[in-house]
Order: sequence, then structure tokens, then C-alpha cells
Amino acid sequence: MELMEAIRGRCAVREYTAASIDEQTIRSLIGDAVQAPSAIDEQPWAFTVVRDQALLDRVSSDARTHIAASAVTGSPKGGHFRSMLEDVNFQIFYHAPVLVLISAMTDGDWIVEDCSLAAENLMLAAYAEGLGSCWIGCSRSYLNTPDGKAALRIPEAWTPVAPIILGHPKSTAAPIPRKTPEIRWVG
Ligand SMILES: Cc1cc2nc3c(=O)[nH]c(=O)nc-3n(C[C@H](O)[C@H](O)[C@H](O)COP(=O)(O)O)c2cc1C
Repeated sequence: MELMEAIRGRCAVREYTAASIDEQTIRSLIGDAVQAPSAIDEQPWAFTVVRDQALLDRVSSDARTHIAASAVTGSPKGGHFRSMLEDVNFQIFYHAPVLVLISAMTDGDWIVEDCSLAAENLMLAAYAEGLGSCWIGCSRSYLNTPDGKAALRIPEAWTPVAPIILGHPKSTAAPIPRKTPEIRWVG
């Protein structure tokens, strides 16, 4: 697939079939993710692959409880999402067959940038393979707690940055139009 086709065609997928993704494909996507640049070539990323649906159900439920307790107030747009999170039947991972959590193994000024670049590569590569993806940012604060790390057997020293779900799309929402970019030409 052409790069521009992937950049323009990728969109968040929130409905998946039950079909699994084979280990080789997941390894290949992670191989694409680590082609991302990283500050001073630190390559701080580590990948936790979760395919156990019962575990994802439990993490979803505990993350919702954590979010409710934190009562984060966000933008007005967040109101709809907050009410979804209050629905006990809402699974924050949308029952995707795979969660790939990208964490930083080290501390550093650029770990969020590094792991985010790897995440974008992962999502574009997944699209090129005919797979859907979505970044599940709402799970991150819980995954950064001792309980969240224990649930996914993430070492205490790691920092979860990018929880990305993957799967075979059941449906794809209409593309979200982009705002006209603010561009200032200086000089
Ligand atoms: C950092 C980040 C966090 C996100 N968190 C969530 C989330 O928790 N749940 C969700 O359904 N989508 C989440 N998304 C997906 C965005 O809602 C989506 O990318 C945005 O609406 C633009 O749509 P598109 O990806 O289809 O272009 C997240 C995306 C990013 C980049």
C-alpha cells in the first residue's frame, strides 16, 4: 500500500469481528513500530500484547472505576464519552481481539514522543495490513497505577504511554474531517 493511502485512509475503528490476529502479524507490526525515530536513539519502547478477552474485560472495568474516582473534567466534547464510561456494559477496548500497550522502559524527557511515534507507525502498518486500530487513551491513567501494571504484568519502572487496540474491522465510521490547519508563514 502506498504511504499516502495509509496516512489518508487510517481512521479509528471501534467495532471488530471476533477474528484473532496471528502472532506473526503482530510481531511484524511491532517490527514496523520500532522503525520510528527516537530521541538520541534511545528506543525506550516495550510492547505488551494482550489477547485474553477476560483480562481485557477486567482491565476495562477497573479502568472505568479508576476514571470515575478520578472524576477528570475535560472539554465539553468529553461529556458524551464520560457518560459512555459510566455504562457498565461499555468495554473501553471495544472487544478488540488484541491490545498492544506501548510503554517506556526508561525515564527521560522524550519517552512520550518516542512511544507515540512508534504508536503511529503501528496504526499505519495495521491499516496497510487491512486491520483496524484505535488508541485507547482513557485506559492510560489506570494502567499507570500499581494495580494496572500488575494486571498486565508491567514492571513497576515502566511507563505505559500508548494503549492501541487492533483487530479486523466489522464496520468503519465515516472519516472525521480535519480542521483547516492553522499555518503562519513567518518570513
Ligand atoms: C492520544 C489519543 C487518545 C485517544 N483515546 C481514545 C479513547 O480513549 N477512546 C476512543 O474511543 N478513542 C480514542 N482516541 C481516538 C480518537 O478519538 C480519534 O483518533 C479521533 O477522534 C480522530 O479520529 P480518526 O482517528 O478516525 O481520524 C484517541 C486518540 C489519541 C491520539
